[in-house]
Amino acid sequence: MPQMPRKAVFPVAGLGTRFLPATKAVPKEMLTVVDKPVIQYAVEEAAEAGIEHFIFVTGRGKGAIEDHFDIAYELEATLKARGKTAEIAQLEASRPAAGTASFVRQQEPLGLGHAVWCARDIVGNEPFVLALPDMLILSPRGCFAQMMDVYRAHGGNVIAVEEVPHEHVHRYGVVALEQKLDERTHRIAGMVEKPKREEAPSNLIISGRYILQPEIFARLETQKPGAGGEIQLTDAMIALVAEQAFHAYRFEGTTYDCGDKIGFLAANVALALSRPDIEPAFRPLLERLIGR
Ligand code: UTP
Repeated sequence: MPQMPRKAVFPVAGLGTRFLPATKAVPKEMLTVVDKPVIQYAVEEAAEAGIEHFIFVTGRGKGAIEDHFDIAYELEATLKARGKTAEIAQLEASRPAAGTASFVRQQEPLGLGHAVWCARDIVGNEPFVLALPDMLILSPRGCFAQMMDVYRAHGGNVIAVEEVPHEHVHRYGVVALEQKLDERTHRIAGMVEKPKREEAPSNLIISGRYILQPEIFARLETQKPGAGGEIQLTDAMIALVAEQAFHAYRFEGTTYDCGDKIGFLAANVALALSRPDIEPAFRPLLERLIGR
């Protein structure tokens, strides 16, 4: 069996310009989907898959993320004094244990690839998982837990992919498939970041969940800026495809891009409808709003 990933990297240094003015003083990862910040869903998904250490690549103005994963001493003391045990339990469950969360700053927003590279010393020479927390995935079993099964069976690098309409491929990293390993898993022949529709090798996009080998860091170190003038993770992965196995895994679940207004609104509605404590009151209200 390959060495299993123990650490997760969460790049959260992006500027969130698509969500201004909301993200002027509040990091976009702290925007709330129903009753939890977006970042919390990705952290819980990684924890469910057995991840033990959580690495956040932050930037200026992202201090609220550190506070969110820390003990809120005054708040918890007040809750305790008032006998609010359920609320205290909720806070404890959502917090990584002492010493299992690390924060490193990406000093300039030079792109996702650069943000991942900033985590190299904390990750060290071992496989790791990478989550783009904007991509909230709703599924019965977490996407990372599913990917760990693929990794256990095939090793290498594993990339979660999903189908999108052909007219949307230009916004994403797109994979070219070769050998089929099972119904949901293929070996990857190549990748391209933000291709023109007519040049895209498929309509399978990279959806924000990765299991990567540490050799990616050496590639990122020398990676030149690509699409959008940013240092692109996809470009560094392309350079590694000739040397390492990359597997595309079509996960079970639905993705909501919470970095985008429509995706964020859809995530709130979908999550609310999936929650037994909220759905009964929310559904009739929603039906009234849409005139049914
Ligand atoms: P996005 O493409 O969503 O960019 O980044 P963004 O800057 O956050 O948002 P917009 O487009 O301006 O609205 C994808 C992921 O990569 C991280 C983001 O935080 C997000 O998780 N990222 C991006 C960084 O950490 N650093 C960067 O330099 C760029």
